[in-house]
Amino acid sequence: MPKPQVLLTRRIPSAALATLEASCDVDRNDEGPLAPAALVARLHGKDGVICVLTDAMTRDVMASAPTLKVVSNIAVGYNNIDVGAAHELGIVVTNTPDVLTEATAELTWALVLDVTRRITEGDRLARRGDWKGWALDFMLGTELRGKQLGVVGYGRIGRAVAARARAAGMLIAYWDPVFGGESITLDRLLSTSDVVALHCPLTPETKHLIDQAALARMKRSAYLVNTSRGPVIDEAALAWALKNRIISGAALDVYEEEPKIHPDLMTLENVVLCPHLGSATTETRTAMADLAVRNTIAVLSGQPAITPVEA
Ligand code: GLV
Repeated sequence: MPKPQVLLTRRIPSAALATLEASCDVDRNDEGPLAPAALVARLHGKDGVICVLTDAMTRDVMASAPTLKVVSNIAVGYNNIDVGAAHELGIVVTNTPDVLTEATAELTWALVLDVTRRITEGDRLARRGDWKGWALDFMLGTELRGKQLGVVGYGRIGRAVAARARAAGMLIAYWDPVFGGESITLDRLLSTSDVVALHCPLTPETKHLIDQAALARMKRSAYLVNTSRGPVIDEAALAWALKNRIISGAALDVYEEEPKIHPDLMTLENVVLCPHLGSATTETRTAMADLAVRNTIAVLSGQPAITPVEA
């Protein structure tokens, strides 16, 4: 029996690669992102593809490879894949939930602390040589104990962030646009929270959920943290809100057009700009690659996927 043909769009850790190569013929792209035309060309004749969130798996791309049986995303978010089209084409889609929950919650919590205690802002000041010494009123931030964290998107990651916030003495409010659960309406969450953290998937309903009107509802003393997907926030509106002190600060890990960042955000001191590192720990990236490989092998050997994305 010939081995199934699999396209691997990015480098993965060697142990996961060895597992994949033991049961599949692997076409490895070890360079940067594949342009859409190159993706189509490399998908020709493939049974499976292991891809990442920068690979746009559109209907046309997937339909160009009639032998394709599985699209295995190395990410929990799958807004880069047209899941409806995949299912119509008989292609199984898989993602990597659970294994990245703690790493993403840790990064989120780091961003909450960073923006409320002005850590990277202080780092920039110190490196510029602008630190004149200790002073009672120098670079004051905001304490978290007793304050409210508003979690938008109360799934695995939202709950893991809430657990960290509770341990720090914060009160939790949540609203979920996908599962419908809420402890409070979105309007109330925005107008009463001291920190708002976004953990919802990107869907047509959540695109620009945080727009100028939503930002205007937030407290002037509040902070916004986003480790979900960039387009959940209208980035131009956020730059306006930060510049005009409509809110106190923001910490972002994701952007509307990665790796581009809105030029106005680049000049503002009250925003922390992290380059999409939510799941970027050695442990988690290894586990993500491993799960993506096991999903691919399962489907290509006629077994059910371990973590399928449902329609
Ligand atoms: C990363 O952003 C992911 O969705 O896994």
